[in-house]
Amino acid sequence: MHTADRRSAVDAVMDTVATAAPQIRQGLVGRRTKVDEENPSGETQAAADVWADKLLENAITAIDGVGQYASEEREDIVECGEGVSVAVDPLDGSSNLRPNAAMGTIVGIYEQPLPAKGEDLVAAAYVLYGPITTMTVARDDTVTEYEISDGERSVVREDIVLPDDPVVYGFGGRVPDWPGDFEAYAREIEDELKLRYGGAMISDVNQVVTYGGIFAYPALESAPNGKLRLQFEGIPIGYIIETAGGASSDGDRSLLAVEPTELHQRVPVHIGNEALIERLEAALT
Ligand code: AHG
Ligand code: MN
Ligand code: MN
Repeated sequence: MHTADRRSAVDAVMDTVATAAPQIRQGLVGRRTKVDEENPSGETQAAADVWADKLLENAITAIDGVGQYASEEREDIVECGEGVSVAVDPLDGSSNLRPNAAMGTIVGIYEQPLPAKGEDLVAAAYVLYGPITTMTVARDDTVTEYEISDGERSVVREDIVLPDDPVVYGFGGRVPDWPGDFEAYAREIEDELKLRYGGAMISDVNQVVTYGGIFAYPALESAPNGKLRLQFEGIPIGYIIETAGGASSDGDRSLLAVEPTELHQRVPVHIGNEALIERLEAALT
């Protein structure tokens, strides 16, 4: 795909997601109930999960220059022409719908057919439905944060880098389910940083981008590959954090170096300041 065509496809996908964000936010109203369907990861879906996925599928597959659409909410890839492949987590943290807490949307744009690895990623972004709707975009080796109002995005931060001195941490899973080596690391971090864990990866990751620190949904005794999905969560977020000068890891290597073997595979996710990720990899035997 020619660079110019790829760039315009990335522009179009980012504009489409920015336009969809207020619609998704508004569409959460009245869609907080669970539906009796499961997603390909075997998780019960919220009405909003299904609805946001349909909205994004319709909008993104209509873009000239997009060849594939995939989401964590649907088993199969939608073939829609020639061009980039777009992998979406339509609603991240949908268990936060009931308590009306923050949620997000994650987008990864790959230049190879899915399932694709981190080196095939050409851009990634997340929308955060917080008090304000913001969109954080990593492309062209830089990270930019926008505020979204009425579908218009305005730049609020450019060339974002993680602060050098880490402040916050957030670790998912239940403590008794943490493997011993991760638990020992977590105990050290608990003595050094402030807890910020809200149950939606995007909100917790945005704390790390803002204040510096570490977020992890680690391997668990009951789930050695953790909970988060490589294609839809791990790789796009790893790309954003690494573009902002931080590091990512599945416990051994960058999330961008993990080879996807199937579209919905899970991966342990650790992201944050480089020194904290290096300490983590040393701690995991
Ligand atoms: P999703 O709603 O897209 O399935 O993502 C939920 C994920 C992630 O956002 C968050 O970090 C994690 O689930 C929270 O899991 P716990 O409820 O086990 O803490
Ligand atoms: Mn998610
Ligand atoms: Mn989701």
